[in-house]
Amino acid sequence: MEHSLTDLPYTMDGTAAHMTQSTFEYRCGLHHLGYLNNFNRLNKGSAFERLSLETIILIAPAGDICKAASQVWNHTFFWRSMEQNGGGIPDGELADAINRKWGSFDEFKKAFQTIAVGNHSSGWTWLVKRADGSLDIDNMSEEGTPLTTTDKPLLCIDISEHTHYPEYRKMRTKFVETFLNKLANWDFAAKNFA
Ligand SMILES: [Fe+2]
Repeated sequence: MEHSLTDLPYTMDGTAAHMTQSTFEYRCGLHHLGYLNNFNRLNKGSAFERLSLETIILIAPAGDICKAASQVWNHTFFWRSMEQNGGGIPDGELADAINRKWGSFDEFKKAFQTIAVGNHSSGWTWLVKRADGSLDIDNMSEEGTPLTTTDKPLLCIDISEHTHYPEYRKMRTKFVETFLNKLANWDFAAKNFA
């Protein structure tokens, strides 16, 4: 079974104020598709061919297929972590959990930004729900994913250079700030938290 890219919940020019269409197509069309094609090539004829990405990530031995599946799944999760006119402030139980952990949403944003900017691997920063229901922020490498841990991923940002270089050059801080203030999909995070 060939896996395919999941439809985006917005148009490619939907985040235009913060990502140009050409950059978005570059990220989605080339990078994500490149990971997908690599995964399908590795997976073809394997014992995991008929399984979902999530199952493959959980049961495949550490190695190329598992890494490739994680890269595809992570990128899909990243696209879903954003929306048109995103940002804002979460509410409900997720907001309560953020306040319990960091004291306020502003303090959470500072912590997320510091950790994401300090991620020196070409990888990911995740807001996760621990097994005890508390929240935390984790950095992972490009092939890391919370799916292989006891944590539940709520929201993530891909801080690899290919996600922000064209607009933000070396200004990773600005990219993370824009993600939090203009792009983050807190409804998606709240559904994952529930
Ligand atoms: Fe990426």
